[in-house]
Amino acid sequence: MLEDGLKKEEILKILEQKLKRDLSYESGSILGSMCTEPLDFGKEIYLKYISKNLGDPGLFLGSAALEVELVSEIGELFNGRNIIGTITTGGSEANFIALRIARKLRQDIKKPEIVVSKSAHISFDKAADFLNIKLRKANLNENFELDIDHFESLINENTCGVVGVAGTTALGLVDPIKDISKIIEGKEIFLHVDAAFGGFVLPFLKRLNHDVPQWDFSVDGVLSITADPHKMGLGVIPSGGFFLKERSILEKAGFEIPYLAGGNFRHLNLVGTRPGAPVIAFWAIMKYLGMKGFTTIVKKCMENTMYLAKRIEQIKGIKLATRPFMNIVGITTENGTSICELDSLLRRKNWMLGKFEEFNVIRLVLMPHVLKEHLEDFLIDLELATKKLRLN
Ligand SMILES: Cc1ncc(COP(=O)(O)O)c(C=O)c1O
Repeated sequence: MLEDGLKKEEILKILEQKLKRDLSYESGSILGSMCTEPLDFGKEIYLKYISKNLGDPGLFLGSAALEVELVSEIGELFNGRNIIGTITTGGSEANFIALRIARKLRQDIKKPEIVVSKSAHISFDKAADFLNIKLRKANLNENFELDIDHFESLINENTCGVVGVAGTTALGLVDPIKDISKIIEGKEIFLHVDAAFGGFVLPFLKRLNHDVPQWDFSVDGVLSITADPHKMGLGVIPSGGFFLKERSILEKAGFEIPYLAGGNFRHLNLVGTRPGAPVIAFWAIMKYLGMKGFTTIVKKCMENTMYLAKRIEQIKGIKLATRPFMNIVGITTENGTSICELDSLLRRKNWMLGKFEEFNVIRLVLMPHVLKEHLEDFLIDLELATKKLRLN
C-alpha cells in the first residue's frame, strides 16, 4: 500500500487504463452471458442505498420489510401466495440453499441424493460437493429434453430432493415440472425448480401467448424456486433469488444468528453481511417497469432470437441445436464435428459465446443489450468461420 494516497483524478485515470481490457455490453461482443446492463434507474437506486446491510436486518427494518414485500410480489408473479425467501448473491447461492433444505428436512437419510437432469446448472454439482450430497443425473433425449422415465428410475430411498429446470443454461428449455411433481407425489421429497434465467422470462412469454408449460408454484409439488433479478430482471449484480412456498420450512431449516446488533434472526443465506442495495434497486425496477415493461423487453429479445434463428438456418454446415424456446440460441454442426474450433475462431473475432462441449453446442443469449446490428456483424463472421472450417 502507498504511504500517501493519490489524488482522485490520478486514481480514476489509472482505473480507466486498467479496466480497458473489460468487455462492455454495449459493444455487442458479449453474446453468451446471462447478465446485462442493469436498468439505469436501478443503478441510481443502488448507489443511493449502497450502505444497507441485510445481514443485520434488525438495524435496517425498512430494507428488511422491503425485501419481504419484494419476495412476496415475485412469488405472486410465480403464482404463489405468501411466498417467503431471500434475495441472494445469485442463482448458485439460491440453488445451494435449496439443496441444503432438501438435506436438512430428511436427516433420517444417511447418504442423501438429489436427482437432476443432465442439463441442470453446474451450481448443483458445486452445492452437492459442499453439502456432501450425491447428485444423480438423468439423461436427455435427442432433442435435449429430459428423459422423465430415466429421471424417475434414479429416485430411491436415499432421495431427499429433485430438481426441475425452467430455462436450461445451454438451451433455455423447460423440464416437465408437472411430471416431476407427479412422480414425487406422496413421497417426502423436496421439489425445487431452477428458474434462475427463466423466472423473469416465462411469465412474460405467457403474456405474449407463447405456449408455456406450468413450471411454478401453481404446480402442487413445487416447494421452492430460484429466479435471478441480475439475469433477465435487469437487476444489479449481485441479485439472485430464492423463493419458498412454506414458512414452516424456514422454522426447520433457517439458521439462527445469535449475536447481531439488531437482534437474533433466522436466515437461509450462505453469506452473513449482505447488500441491501440490489434488493432495493430491484424493488424499484419492478415498480418502474411493471408487467408491461418486462413484457416489452422480453418481446424484443424474442424478436432478435427468432431473427437470429432464421438466419442460422440459412447457413450451411451449422444448424440450430433445437428450436429456441426462450431468448437462447444453441448452434451445433450439421455433420457432428466438434464445435470447439468454431468457438475459437469466433472468440478470436471477439465474439464471446457460451460453449457446452457435452452437447456440442455454442450458445448465444439474446439479452436486452444485444441489438440487431450486433447480430448482423456476428452473422458475417459466423458465415466466414463456417466456410474457413469447411463445415459447409
Ligand atoms: C439455470 C441456471 N441456474 C443457476 C445459475 C447460476 O447463477 P449465478 O451465476 O448467478 O450464480 C445459472 C447461471 O447461468 C443458470 O443458468
